[in-house]
Order: sequence, then structure tokens, then C-alpha cells
Amino acid sequence: MHYMSNSIVKDGKAVQLDDGVYWVGALDPDLRSFDIILNTANGTSYNSYLIKGSEGVAIVDTVKSEFSHEFFARLESVADYSDIKVIVLNHLEPDHTGALPELLQRAPHAKVYISERAQGMLKALLKSNTDDLEYQAVTTGEQVSLGDCTLTFLNTPFLHWPDTQCTYLEEREILFSGDVFGCHFCDSRLFNDKVGDFRFSFDYYYAHIMRPFKKWVLEALDLIDPLSLRIIAPTHGPILRDRPRRYVNHYRELATTSLSGELGTNEKSMIIFYMSSYGNTARMAEAISAGAQSVDGVRVSLFDLQGGETEPFVDLIEEADALVLGSPTINGDAVKPVWDLLSSLIVVNLKGKLGAAFGSYGWTGEAVRMIEDRLRGLKLRVPKQGIRVKLIPTDEELQQCFDFGNDISSILVGSYQDKKVLEMAEL
Ligand code: FEO
Repeated sequence: MHYMSNSIVKDGKAVQLDDGVYWVGALDPDLRSFDIILNTANGTSYNSYLIKGSEGVAIVDTVKSEFSHEFFARLESVADYSDIKVIVLNHLEPDHTGALPELLQRAPHAKVYISERAQGMLKALLKSNTDDLEYQAVTTGEQVSLGDCTLTFLNTPFLHWPDTQCTYLEEREILFSGDVFGCHFCDSRLFNDKVGDFRFSFDYYYAHIMRPFKKWVLEALDLIDPLSLRIIAPTHGPILRDRPRRYVNHYRELATTSLSGELGTNEKSMIIFYMSSYGNTARMAEAISAGAQSVDGVRVSLFDLQGGETEPFVDLIEEADALVLGSPTINGDAVKPVWDLLSSLIVVNLKGKLGAAFGSYGWTGEAVRMIEDRLRGLKLRVPKQGIRVKLIPTDEELQQCFDFGNDISSILVGSYQDKKVLEMAEL
């Protein structure tokens, strides 16, 4: 283990963060990738906490299994296993439950407290017969007492798995927040007023872990806002004891629509992206855009993906109501910038948005269907089969593109059915 010179963390020792409250976690400075998708430029930490009450000890979360020995050594430095009455699992992902099976063996008087959604996961995690396991499913407002310490549970699902919850130590005003307010930032100085500049890591973690669940972030913040907060103790990264409220407010800013006020009331946003080899898909895009704009109440934006990186577009797509993608078919596939754009969208929630695809092709024209499949995979609704044009679009085909754009807009504003009735009446 390599520690920095000003390290607060010492081998085999718990770190006190408040009266009767200790960090008993582990540092993982060598980790460079977490859950495959996250870069961890200076590692991470698995924060576990121990609370000593007048009538027993509680453990809040554990550590990744490879670090169990560190966790148990720190735990043993401040408590006996026989005194552990409560094990709170705010989140069952293996980076926080790796030491759980062994802890359950060592702490025979402990009862486990988990969220209601965590029950099935707990059984899957422990695999073996869990009939003897003493556990209780809890939800917002329920409490467990350690005599002079009271733990109150807050149901905060999807942050970042369905099982997640937060736990608040009333008498110390400490929020054990699980992954919420966490980040992959390993620093043995441990507290936010001591560690290096972790702002990038904090926002990066939010963007990749919490952002797809904005709605749930806001619901969790509604539960957290009324709490008096002296310390926020997350499962990863610095312990937030210096002005912890800043991080709550920052989460609210991050989770709040940045384009609010940009669009008019009841106005919908459609974004059309395309790539074009010979200008044919571009002409289709312009016709679709014109058709989409011909419906009142839809703000249409048209972008050529050849014009730059895809990353900056993620914000726009997150706020849009419809996403329309155009690609030629090259070697039986859509072109790479389109796939790059689609793969960058896993960090946002697209469920229920409208999706559509189009493109010109020379021989086989698979791209449009492939894009549609991916849009459905991302949980967008694809209400109309996409338009494919062989090589150069004719005037008639451009009119079909115009109508296609018009149809997507009409669906978006809810006038599509009326339009169909009108067309039937005109027959
Ligand atoms: Fe740190 Fe979602 O586990």
C-alpha cells in the first residue's frame, strides 16, 4: 500500500470522523477502470463506516472483497464483532458487499437492514441458504436505534441501482449516502477539506452514474434537502465535512434541465443528425427538416455529424423530444459517427422519446433498420418505419421525406390522428 505523506489513513486503523463514528473502508489507488465504463485516473476508495452507539455497533456498507482484510483490521481497531447489532447495506453492488459474507460469519448478533428492492439481490448475492439470515427491509422514515444513536432510512432508488438507499444518523447529522455524492477519487487525506482537487471526478461520476436517473436524483434531493447536514459520508471518494450542503445544491443544478426557458411553453424539440457521402442523405435530411418545421409547436435543429465531435450533442439530445438520424449504408452498416453518437447516449435517459431514421444507399441499405433497432434498444419509440432512398432522391422521394418529417412532428404534438382523419375525409 502506498500512502501520501499527509495521509490520514493508516494501516490497520479506523479513522474517526465524528464522536463514535469511524471510517473503516479501504483505498484502491491502482484501479484505472471501474465497471468497465468509468476511468479512474487516481483510483477509488470503498468507504465503509462504523457507528458506536450506547446499545451496539452499526456497520454501514462494506468493501470490495479483495480489500476485506483492510476493512476487518480497521473494524477490529475500534469494535468487537460481538457488539455489532446492525449492518446497513445502502447498496448491494459488489464493491460495497464484498466483505459481507465474512462479516455475517464474524458478527453473529447482527441484523441486516436493506431497502425493499434489495431483498432479491441480497439472496442472489449470498447464494447460500439465507433462511438463517436476519434481515429487515426498510423504507423512508423507518428507524433503527443503537441507544443514543438513531439511524433513519431514506428510500433513494436507482442511485445507482434499484436497491439503493441512504441512511441518516440523526444525533450526529451525518448522511451515509451510498453512491450519491460519491466519486472515484482516491486520496488518503480522506476529507474534502484536505484532499486534492476532486471537482472533475465528482462531476464525471455524476455524469456517468447518476445522470441517467435524473428524476430519481431529484426525488432523493427532496428527501435530503430538509435534513441538517454536518457530514455527508458517501461510499466512494472524499468524505464531505466542509460545507456539505454545497454538494446537495450542486447535484440539484446538475439534475435540472439546462435548457429550461429556451423553448416556448408546450414547444417540442426535434433534433436531426445526418452524415452524407455524396449529398443524398443530406438532401433527405433537409426535406425531413422542412417537413418537421411545417408543424406548429416543434423546434427543429439540423446537424451534420461531419461537423464535429458527438459528445457536445448529448445535452441537446437529453432535452429533446425527438431524435432523427440519417446515415448512408457503407459496407452494410451505418457510418461510424452515427454509432459514436448512439453509444455516447447511454449516460442519458431516452425512454419515451420519439426516434426515426433515414438514409440513401447504393446497394443494400441496411443502415436505416440497424439505427431503428438501436433506437428501440435505447427505449425510444420508433412510430414510423424509416425512409430509404436508392442513390439520388427524386422529387417524389423528397416529398416523401417532407411528409415523413411532418408526420414525426405531428406525432410529437399529438395531431397525427387528426391529420389521418382529415386525409381520409379528403379521399
Ligand atoms: Fe459503488 Fe454502485 O457501487
